[in-house]
Amino acid sequence: MRSEEPDSEGQCLSTLFPGFPFPLGVEHHAEIGSTNDRALELCSNASLLVPHLVIADRQTAGRGRSSNRWWSTDGALLFSLIIDAANLGIPEPCWPLVSLTAGIAVVRTLEEHLSTAGNHVVGLKWPNDVWLNDRKVCGILVEVPPQRRGRMVIGIGLNVNNSFADAPSELRTIATSMQDESTRPFESSELLANWLRHFQSELTDLANGPDLLIERCRQRCVLAGQLVSLDIGHEVITGTCRGIDDDGALRLLSPAGEQRFLAGTVRRLT
Ligand code: BTN
Repeated sequence: MRSEEPDSEGQCLSTLFPGFPFPLGVEHHAEIGSTNDRALELCSNASLLVPHLVIADRQTAGRGRSSNRWWSTDGALLFSLIIDAANLGIPEPCWPLVSLTAGIAVVRTLEEHLSTAGNHVVGLKWPNDVWLNDRKVCGILVEVPPQRRGRMVIGIGLNVNNSFADAPSELRTIATSMQDESTRPFESSELLANWLRHFQSELTDLANGPDLLIERCRQRCVLAGQLVSLDIGHEVITGTCRGIDDDGALRLLSPAGEQRFLAGTVRRLT
């Protein structure tokens, strides 16, 4: 794969975001295919200093989960962060919880930024989406490069100042942006700096075990008590969501009894 040249790199994040306490490699692209693809490419460099951030104003081939395309227009916050979970002291059994950790950090960031902008309901839609007022405002794609154990790419697409007014009709009813919901623009660099701060603090908690994270996920789970369908690839199960289990699994009460799922795509039916 040919490397896409960044228009700025090798900077310390504190240069770009004054007040951010942790040194971090960062590269910015005005336009790129996918920040996750670029981050995965960077992971093959054994001497890469991590955490490392790849950020772009625009993506031409943004990717979502399940091989979906990630649609976004100018004004969205698009980035991928490379971390080394082992170096951060996160016990290996907790590595699959890093995506929930990223989601909770988004929820906490939005709670902060939207608190003065009216009545907004922010929540986590298991496992990887963040909802604002019942619509998807953020998607998270965590990928693990094969080359180096412990490294992870956390890709985040947060709809900030991009509007869904002109989005394809299938998206208009299910997705939204911060600006669409509050009719004022937001400062993307502040959102990013605050997400990094929350993510760093959540990862520190996770290094001591999953209890705090799981409790925060339970408090913010938008599916609890709702009738949902869960697509697990070969089967679609319908039932009432019973919240999130101690290991991050989704609990579902279906006619077959209570079941637990570690992955899948959920749709809320009520
Ligand atoms: C999803 O909800 O399906 C996950 C979407 C993740 C999108 C982000 S945008 C930045 C990063 N680069 C990508 O190509 N995808 C992620």
